Amino acid sequence: MTIQWFPGHMTKARRQIEDKLKLIDVVIELLDARIPLSSRNPMVDEILKGKPRMVLLNKHDLADPVVTAEWVRYFADQGLQALPIDAASGTQVKEILPRAKALWAHKIESQLRKGINPRAIRALIVGIPNVGKSTLINQLAGKKIAATGDKPGVTKGQQWIKVGTEMDLLDTPGILWPKFEDQMVGLRLAATGAIKEEILHLDEVAFFSIKYMVQHYGTALQERFGIAEMPDDLDDPNQIVSVMEAIGRKRGAIVSGGKVDLDKASLIIIRDLRAGKLGRISLEKPTDY
Ligand code: G4P
Repeated sequence: MTIQWFPGHMTKARRQIEDKLKLIDVVIELLDARIPLSSRNPMVDEILKGKPRMVLLNKHDLADPVVTAEWVRYFADQGLQALPIDAASGTQVKEILPRAKALWAHKIESQLRKGINPRAIRALIVGIPNVGKSTLINQLAGKKIAATGDKPGVTKGQQWIKVGTEMDLLDTPGILWPKFEDQMVGLRLAATGAIKEEILHLDEVAFFSIKYMVQHYGTALQERFGIAEMPDDLDDPNQIVSVMEAIGRKRGAIVSGGKVDLDKASLIIIRDLRAGKLGRISLEKPTDY
């Protein structure tokens, strides 16, 4: 789902989340494991206020496990438990309930002390578009329920989905907007498919991706596309473009006269990257900050 975010949409989205927050005990913040900070809403702490919260690093199947472990430590340093998951296949999804219970344990204990039977924990999933909110809701529900969440400004009756007997999940997630001001963030979002490539120039997104991969995943790049010569100077844009051209030639992205069609080559690069054809690749590390 692509949403063009304008200030009015952001205000509405924020208000919708604030309304939902009144009903819930625990927030499940969904981030993209390949770009955890770039896929995070810039105002999330302010919007969620003090609600007990866990972070899920989704699409871990596509992310570099070594870098994801660094991110888990990064969030732990901030007092946030981060759990890598793969909502599409369901990997680690069973860990969510015990974590939600741990976050809500103080309340459950106080209810038990008062002789009250604790009710199911009420949870809400929040995250930017395409991070996998609907996929996770369906996975937790054990069936296909959610469409693609509600759009800002479109109100809909809230319904609870039972996750076993101990957790109730709101059927519509809270949709947050990404951070746009930073060009690097935009490029990372586009490279992973969080925002559609039409917003940014395809060749710019591919250029950024190739440069990052030359730096961190050179072998994967060489193996996938059979590139003989790798750049020795990352600050030389011509060397990065040469890699893009080599990929274009290898994959038949040629226009008449034998020149490489850079747009086609860019599309091939981005599609392969997003689909995990180059292996598990993260496009952001805690040390980038
Ligand atoms: P949203 O509600 O947050 O907007 O996201 P949604 O669940 O619709 O998921 C967006 C895309 O991400 C979907 O791909 C979905 O299958 C994929 N996805 C979700 N979780 C995971 C995961 O853990 N691993 C992988 N590899 N993919 C995941 P799609 O249907 O192909 O949509 P699109 O990519 O064509 O937009």
